[in-house]
Amino acid sequence: MPKMNDAYAALPGSYLFSEVARRVKAHREAHPEAEVISLGIGDVSQPLIPAVIEALHQAVDEMGKAGSFRGYGPEQGYAFLREAILEHDFKPRGVALEADEIFISDGAKSDVGNIQELFGPDAVVALTDPVYPVYEDSNAMAGRAGERKDGRWSRIVYLPCTAENGFEPALPERRPDMIYLCCPNNPTGTVLSRAALTRWVDYARENDAVILFDAAYESFISSPEIVHSIYEIPGADEVAIEFRSLSKTAGFTGLRCAYTMVPHKLRAHAADGTELSLHDMWLRRQCTKYNGCPYIVQRAAEAVFREPAQAQLEAQLGIYRANARMILDTCTSLGLEAFGGEHSPYVWLRTPQGMKSWDFFDLMLSRASVVCTPGVGFGACGEGYARFTAFASPEQTLKALERFQSIL
Ligand code: MLT
Repeated sequence: MPKMNDAYAALPGSYLFSEVARRVKAHREAHPEAEVISLGIGDVSQPLIPAVIEALHQAVDEMGKAGSFRGYGPEQGYAFLREAILEHDFKPRGVALEADEIFISDGAKSDVGNIQELFGPDAVVALTDPVYPVYEDSNAMAGRAGERKDGRWSRIVYLPCTAENGFEPALPERRPDMIYLCCPNNPTGTVLSRAALTRWVDYARENDAVILFDAAYESFISSPEIVHSIYEIPGADEVAIEFRSLSKTAGFTGLRCAYTMVPHKLRAHAADGTELSLHDMWLRRQCTKYNGCPYIVQRAAEAVFREPAQAQLEAQLGIYRANARMILDTCTSLGLEAFGGEHSPYVWLRTPQGMKSWDFFDLMLSRASVVCTPGVGFGACGEGYARFTAFASPEQTLKALERFQSIL
């Protein structure tokens, strides 16, 4: 038999959303008559906006003509898309990035999972708890997490985020090399203030650490007080990589397109002390292992950043925002404690009567045929919580909440 990568052998049973899908499948098989409603995985329900569909059609036609057909594209993404991102996302916020510091990809999940390859096998990772499981699992797969005991890895620095600390992680007691932050947060739906992010940027600068900043949900921010990009914080371009995605912003969960910013100023040391550019290393990695996001998808993505798409998207985001409000209001009207949902499509519910997360999940599934995500699946501090997403249709969301009310 071939020799297995021991880091894979040490992984916990299955990926969180695969386990959720497994239980839902079993429920459907046992109750074929049940209409299951998912407020579980954050997958969008609204169709692509007309501006995106038009751009797709045009790009498909180009691919069918000799003069405009495209083969392999630049691994980093086409200039037309990188320029559109700069103009739309960064320049209006006073962020001075260069187009070549933007890397287009097929998804933020791939990028946040792959980025750890740039760091040494003994680099120390700090994660919030609860956390989007990809950060933790990808480092465990790389053999960087140590031993697993009682649901935690020995070499990972966990930063608890609970109602008690207002979901704001304290600075770590042990110096990490890599710090994952997600704002607006998945799963808690909460945000970090400008002051809190400034503390993190200052900490990273003082401690030669890199912040891996997941901004996949930034389009849900509804207050001018909250920053959309970590590069709005002075000095962040020396210490932070930022990840963004069109999945939730523009309904691209099936189409696939994301972008990751790796500024030229970011540096790391090789074992012999040589200073290297993380930007150059990421480019090296992408050129070797990736052939780029499809041309037609990049044309669709470009359309997102231009009129008339923005008005169309605003209407779509409004649907999800209203769903989030409906979930939050229902939970609070039932006397339950719920967080997030204001700048985020996620509502983080403290389970009724202190139920364990998976018990609550099973209750919701078996009695209401409603799928949520058990909080403990995001980490030990998520025990006793459940996450609801606002991405179902308004009708399905309402129906799910009525069922939830009736079983409580
Ligand atoms: C989630 O539900 O946490 C996300 O949809 C998962 C993802 O984006 O990969």
